[in-house]
Amino acid sequence: MSVGSSEKPPVNRAKFATNLGVLAATLGSAVGLGNIWKFPYLTGSNGGAAFLLVYIICMLLIGIPVMVSELTLGRAARSNAIATMQKLSPARQPWWLIGAAGVLAAFLIMAFYSEVAAWVFAYIFKAIQGGILSTDPEVTKSAFNGLVGNPTQSLIWQWIDLAVVGFIILLGVNKGIESATKKLMPILLGLLILVGIRSITLPGAGQGLTFLFQPDFTKLTAASFLIAMGLAFFKLSVGMGTMITYGSYFRDDQDIPGTAFRVAFSDLAVSLLAGIAIFPAVFAFGYQPNAGPSLLFLTIPSVFASMPLGNIFMVIFFILTAIASIGAQISLVEVPVAFLEEKFHLSRQKASIITVLSIVLVGSLAALSNSTLADVKLFGMTFFDLFDYTTSNILLPLGGLFIAIFISWIWGYKKLSAALSNNGQLSNQGIIKVFYGTLLVVTPVLVTIVLLNGLKIIQ
Ligand code: PHE
Repeated sequence: MSVGSSEKPPVNRAKFATNLGVLAATLGSAVGLGNIWKFPYLTGSNGGAAFLLVYIICMLLIGIPVMVSELTLGRAARSNAIATMQKLSPARQPWWLIGAAGVLAAFLIMAFYSEVAAWVFAYIFKAIQGGILSTDPEVTKSAFNGLVGNPTQSLIWQWIDLAVVGFIILLGVNKGIESATKKLMPILLGLLILVGIRSITLPGAGQGLTFLFQPDFTKLTAASFLIAMGLAFFKLSVGMGTMITYGSYFRDDQDIPGTAFRVAFSDLAVSLLAGIAIFPAVFAFGYQPNAGPSLLFLTIPSVFASMPLGNIFMVIFFILTAIASIGAQISLVEVPVAFLEEKFHLSRQKASIITVLSIVLVGSLAALSNSTLADVKLFGMTFFDLFDYTTSNILLPLGGLFIAIFISWIWGYKKLSAALSNNGQLSNQGIIKVFYGTLLVVTPVLVTIVLLNGLKIIQ
């Protein structure tokens, strides 16, 4: 293990205790609103099955290799994202900038993510009151528009979400949320399966399944390739240091490639279940698949409305979604918190408070994007869309690109192979060679082409 000498040795750095704990924590970061909210809305806006296929290819050739790289670097340096890159890079090379971009990305993602979580919190209460349970698109649309168009509600629910996240981080009870996630995740899965079954048995549901699973490649554009790649980064929480930070808590005998595969495929399964729950309903009730960020909040109430005990199930659904979103948010906030703590020797309390208050400020720009600030646009996007678009489609891919280049070209095969085999403990030489080759050439070339093409820098 190559730990630099400039910083104090990380003697008392916490570690995940068990294999299941590692898997649960890493999955807890990956699974969240990305699966339940973002995956369906992007798949819906970008043509369905063909987009799904591109997304899966990006996950395999870009997402998983970058995840393996981040976990490896984090475990080797046992530090926050910036210090990890400083420790492991040759003197006077500015690789720490990747970590710095990651801290920035964490803030910007939290700014809009906390607002979507805010809608989920609000929907728990709307579900309890019963007003949104309807198969009529007019009713569900006006409920959603009423919420996001109201500045006070948008802000207050966001603050509630951030207060919950802040408290969990402040009290250092992350372990508590980890074990809660571990227990609740299967219930969320069960509920998604239940909703999925109801959805595919709706009249006219077949069209939704065709949309999700029968590719029509004429629907793909350069922009949709970029968005699929961005989603792969966002989904696996890579390209910005979250997995570096989590890797720093991994034990030395943890099988990193094995963990990454398990996390990625479980995560994909949750996204597909969400898709199966939502798309049949889109066609059965006359919604538009390209409704955008509102898609989940329109369709899900309609599916529950056509189910016995739908109201109760819907309350449980939004509670579980909120919990899944909190797991992901904790991993996001952990990036700046770990950085502030270690860089400025702040207490965890101070680092958490500074981080959460900064998110409250930047986040209000996203919260007000559908009301007070709806007409304020940069590059033709509201703040909400701008934060969402630039993080997934620019910052994370750039971070991932440089991480892939760093680990294969600078860190090199010998160290990578020693790290991935746990110094020869695991007999996974074949898979290590595949990862090395992918990180050396395939990932950087693909990310570069998709980025340049998608951003219309080359056509
Ligand atoms: N992967 C999380 C989700 O899908 C979001 C996330 C992105 C979390 C980046 C951490 C870092 O909800």
